[in-house]
Amino acid sequence: MYYSEIAGVGSYVPEKMVSNVDLEAFIDTTDQWITTRTGIAQRRISTGEKASQMAVKAAVKAIKHAAIPIEDIDLVILATITPDFFTPSTASLVQAELKLKNITSFDISAGCTGFIYGIQIADQFIKSGKSNCALVIGAEILSKVVNWQDRNTCVLFGDGAGAVILKRSNREGILYTYTGSSGDLEGLLTLPAIPLKNPFYIDNPISDQPSYIYMNGKEIFKFATNIMLQSIERVLKETKLTIADIDFIIPHQANFRIIDYVAKKIKAKTGQFYKNLDRFGNTSAASIPLALDEMVAKGMLQKGNRVIMVGFGGGLTWGSILFNWVR
Ligand code: ACO
Repeated sequence: MYYSEIAGVGSYVPEKMVSNVDLEAFIDTTDQWITTRTGIAQRRISTGEKASQMAVKAAVKAIKHAAIPIEDIDLVILATITPDFFTPSTASLVQAELKLKNITSFDISAGCTGFIYGIQIADQFIKSGKSNCALVIGAEILSKVVNWQDRNTCVLFGDGAGAVILKRSNREGILYTYTGSSGDLEGLLTLPAIPLKNPFYIDNPISDQPSYIYMNGKEIFKFATNIMLQSIERVLKETKLTIADIDFIIPHQANFRIIDYVAKKIKAKTGQFYKNLDRFGNTSAASIPLALDEMVAKGMLQKGNRVIMVGFGGGLTWGSILFNWVR
């Protein structure tokens, strides 16, 4: 029986910081509305960098942190809804940039839950013996797919990337993984792909939608609070642990109010849920590894700590991972 463990983490955000006050200059919003409704004060925005470039920077840091030879990596999984291209995959671009040879690489699309899905897949590759060492990345340039005239969405998102090295181990690092989806709720959060405009095209309102994020914020809010709670409870039940046995919970960073609601419902201790969205906004698939890397950089994780990562997103999708920090 093989196990997998998180051996290294890294992250990268663009230099350009955009505050709520900066947004006031061109949309009808206020710093006060954004901070009280979401907890976001600022976000990082790409001024030209692509998802693959940010992903490589996060990956290089994770490889260095794991102190592994780069040739050990035999699998690259990259979660994104904002790839550089539909094909080649962003994972393939990362593979090329890192000069990795003859390995498996692919992107996955599970919205903001993409990183959780990625860890689950990599863990299965490792446990089945197909992979020894995986690079799992969440990288997003949401700033290219938000409508900057739509105050309902553009204030919420930011750009960034986070990466982990997941490697085969005789220690039980990843303890439990869980994912789910409800495609019937897809209309609550959409990002249309290239519209159909072939010579045989017949008018169709669905294929005419512009490629911007649309979100029914109120419904997503309700969904998120329920599913985050359920996803944490599922992990605890399956592993016969209680919330008191968990050192930290790293939730998808979408809204302070969602996180605080879940923390209260599950009777978490103060500080048990980690939050950094005040500085980065919602970076979709990058938000959880970005938060994990920040916690590691701050020295918050001690060997033996039990940590839950939990997320939700477009699809709709959700999931949770319980791991032991073994470094
Ligand atoms: N500035 C000022 N006013 C605004 C803004 C803004 N940026 N955005 C909306 N408003 C207005 C609305 O127009 C509305 O005005 P009205 O009452 O005159 O119609 C009013 O504020 C209230 O709007 P609500 O939608 O009721 O605001 P709410 O309290 O629900 O907060 C929010 C909105 C922050 C989007 C919240 O619903 C939310 O966080 N939802 C979940 C979002 C989320 O988790 N997204 C991530 C999904 S998955 C992924 O990560 C991709």
